[in-house]
Amino acid sequence: MTTPRTVLVTGGNRGIGYAIAEEFVAQGHRVAVTARSGEGPAGTLTVVADVTDSASIDAAFTTVEAELGPVEVVVANAGVTKDGLLMRMTEDDFTSVVDTNLGGAFRVVKRASKGMLKARFGRVLLVSSVVGLYGSPGQVNYASSKAALVGFARSLTRELGGRGVTANVVAPGFIETDMTAALADDQKAGYLQSIPAGRYGSSAEVAKTLAWLASDDAAYISGAVIPVDGGLGMGH
Ligand SMILES: NC(=O)c1ccc[n+]([C@@H]2O[C@H](COP(=O)([O-])OP(=O)(O)OC[C@H]3O[C@@H](n4cnc5c(N)ncnc54)[C@H](OP(=O)(O)O)[C@@H]3O)[C@@H](O)[C@H]2O)c1
Repeated sequence: MTTPRTVLVTGGNRGIGYAIAEEFVAQGHRVAVTARSGEGPAGTLTVVADVTDSASIDAAFTTVEAELGPVEVVVANAGVTKDGLLMRMTEDDFTSVVDTNLGGAFRVVKRASKGMLKARFGRVLLVSSVVGLYGSPGQVNYASSKAALVGFARSLTRELGGRGVTANVVAPGFIETDMTAALADDQKAGYLQSIPAGRYGSSAEVAKTLAWLASDDAAYISGAVIPVDGGLGMGH
C-alpha cells in the first residue's frame, strides 16, 4: 500500500488522462482533473482549465488546494497534434502544439512546484510520446514538444532532486484513444507492423505505469524516460 496523495491530472476528461485519473482513484488517492469540457471519472474533482492559460491553471490549483490539499503528484497529460509535413506546416501549427504540450507542462509544473518545495515532496509526471525520441514524418511540431519534456524532467531533477521531488517522463507508444483514432488506416497498419508486441496499447497500461512512478516504491527514480510502447521505440 502506497501513501495516499493529492493528485492533479491535466486533460482528465477523456483518453489517457481519464484512465490515469481512474487508476489513481482505484489506488486510494485524492484525485482532481482539469478539463476544458466534460468531467473526470467517478470519485474525482473536476476543475476547468486550459493549459495554455496560466490564470486558469492558477485558479484550478487554488480550488484543488482548498478542496483536497496541496498537490503532491502532478501529471501533465493534456496534449494535441496538428500533423503535417514540414513544408506545409504553418507557424501556428508549430507554435500552438508546442505551446500546449510543452508550454502547458511548464505552466502546470511551475504552479505545482511551489507546494512541492514547501512540502519537500513531489512527483512530477510528464506524458511524452515514443515519437519524441523515435521521430515521425508529419510530426515535427509534436515530436519536438514531446522530446523537450525529457530535458524538462532532467533539469527539474537537478533543480529539485534534493528537496524530495522526482520528475519522470512516460513515453507511450500507440495507444487506442481519440488521438490515434484520427489517423489514416494505412498509418495505423504501418504502426502495428512495427510494434514488437503485435498490438496497440491501452490507456490503462499507461495509467498503471504513472501510478507506480508516483508510488512510494519509485522514490529513487528521477529523470527517467519509461516507455510504454510494446517495444516500438526500443533503444531510442
Ligand atoms: N494516444 C496515443 O497513442 C498517445 C501516444 C503517445 C503519447 N500520447 C499523449 O498522451 C496524452 C493524452 O493523449 P490522448 O491519446 O488521451 O489524447 P486525446 O484523447 O486527444 O485527449 C487529449 C486530452 O488533452 C486535453 N487538452 C488538449 N488541449 C488542451 C488544453 N489546451 N488545455 C487543457 N486540456 C487540453 C483534451 O481536452 P479536451 O477534451 O478539452 O480537448 C483531452 O482531455 C497527450 O499528451 C498525448 O500526446 C498519446
